[in-house]
Amino acid sequence: PETGSLTVVVLGASGDLAKKKTFPALFHLYRQGFLPPDEVHIFGYARTKISDNELRNRLRGYLVSEKGASPQQLEDVEKFLQLIKYVSGSYDSEDGFRQLDKEISAHEYLKNSVEGLSRRLFYLALPPSVYPSVCRMIKTCCMNKSDLGGWTRVVVEKPFGRDLQSAEELSTEIGKLFEEPQIYRIDHYLGKELVQNLLVLRFANRFFLPLWNRDNIDNVQIVFREDFGTEGRGGYFDQYGIIRDIMQNHLLQVLCLVAMEKPVSLKPEHIRDEKVKVLESVLPIRDDEVILGQYEGYKDDPTVPDNSNTPTFATVILRIHNERWEGVPFILKAGKALNSRKAEIRVQFKDVPGDIFKCQTQGRNEFVIRLQPSEAIYMKLTVKQPGLEMSAVQSELDLSYGQRYQGVIIPEAYERLILDTIRGDQQHFVRRDELKASWKIFTPLLHRIDDGEFNPILYKPGSRGPAEADELLKQAGYVQTHGY
Ligand code: BG6
Repeated sequence: PETGSLTVVVLGASGDLAKKKTFPALFHLYRQGFLPPDEVHIFGYARTKISDNELRNRLRGYLVSEKGASPQQLEDVEKFLQLIKYVSGSYDSEDGFRQLDKEISAHEYLKNSVEGLSRRLFYLALPPSVYPSVCRMIKTCCMNKSDLGGWTRVVVEKPFGRDLQSAEELSTEIGKLFEEPQIYRIDHYLGKELVQNLLVLRFANRFFLPLWNRDNIDNVQIVFREDFGTEGRGGYFDQYGIIRDIMQNHLLQVLCLVAMEKPVSLKPEHIRDEKVKVLESVLPIRDDEVILGQYEGYKDDPTVPDNSNTPTFATVILRIHNERWEGVPFILKAGKALNSRKAEIRVQFKDVPGDIFKCQTQGRNEFVIRLQPSEAIYMKLTVKQPGLEMSAVQSELDLSYGQRYQGVIIPEAYERLILDTIRGDQQHFVRRDELKASWKIFTPLLHRIDDGEFNPILYKPGSRGPAEADELLKQAGYVQTHGY
């Protein structure tokens, strides 16, 4: 492993993302020994003028819950907070960044009294409008300068633009300053345990190899449901809507892993090449295969305009035009303020030909991967009802992580992904051409929604969403099965 000083700079240090996700992830990595205190220094950077201690005080409560924390955890929190310094400055002038560079260099000088590299990671927990100027400032003022080598990397979060054109403009701007291997575009769904498991499940199991195609699979659902609305984020959300917030990125990335061909190897480039091929094979979305919804009360949020037609729910069918998937609907569904919180992939197989049990069971085989909550992989299958009668029922082969892997702590998505950025592994990050192909799929629909040509159907908060979406599912061939 590399040694030498490692600097992590969190830009937008007092924002929501930094407090709730980035710093807690860094803390967990620190606790597990991945951020050795003799190498690591962490900087928060933002516009607000506050002291190191003020930033530490703001972060403390997000690192552990004070109630349940053990004395050891509390001690670790204090040690971790001491690694954090704060620099204030604007996002588009050099003063703050020069100051930041001075402090990073001073720290590198101290830590590198033992020979080593200079590694600089810049995490942009910021809105995309400032990415270009921040990247320019980093490039002008803060690059790694050590003769001993090392690297400078930037991590950016979604939304990467609003549509194909703006995303491409953003990519071009950043691309003038950094090479692709220096840019880490995070989609935190790629850091989830069961999303990472998809490659293993699909390509390391003989069971699935011959079945994973249009001859056997009837339809695939990729579903994201939340049982809360946009509380507190209405202003942000309204500019984007559910398609840009969840579907164009998280669900589409999952679709790629479900549908792609086997990569030549596990090298990041091989995997991403296959994902791009899937995205480029998606046909234009048909109007009659889209249902949009907005929950009642969404516009009561004072930060949401009264005439907003932003969808908080969408069901969209994607069709992949290739040998494996022609004719199989991939049903993407995402919604806020629904009746449950769940993210899952549901692969439904076709009916058994010449089925002799039809009168007793209507179940189809299904393979379900539940990403959250309570990670699980299960198969719905038909078995004989135990007892004297010869009847068939649906049952499950169930791999529930809580039972099977008791005591195993599943890392947070951000934790894993930040560790990857430090290790230089881009396997679970979105490449520029992937991003472009993703935007290409949704941009025509998004423009029509923005122009008011496609309006959402109202649904009750706490419901399943618009009934029309269930209807669309049925039309697409999905058959509700018994059991789970
Ligand atoms: C974020 C979205 O990317 O993902 C949020 O902006 C959403 O709207 C969140 O709530 C869901 O993430 P998770 O990991 O809780 O499924």
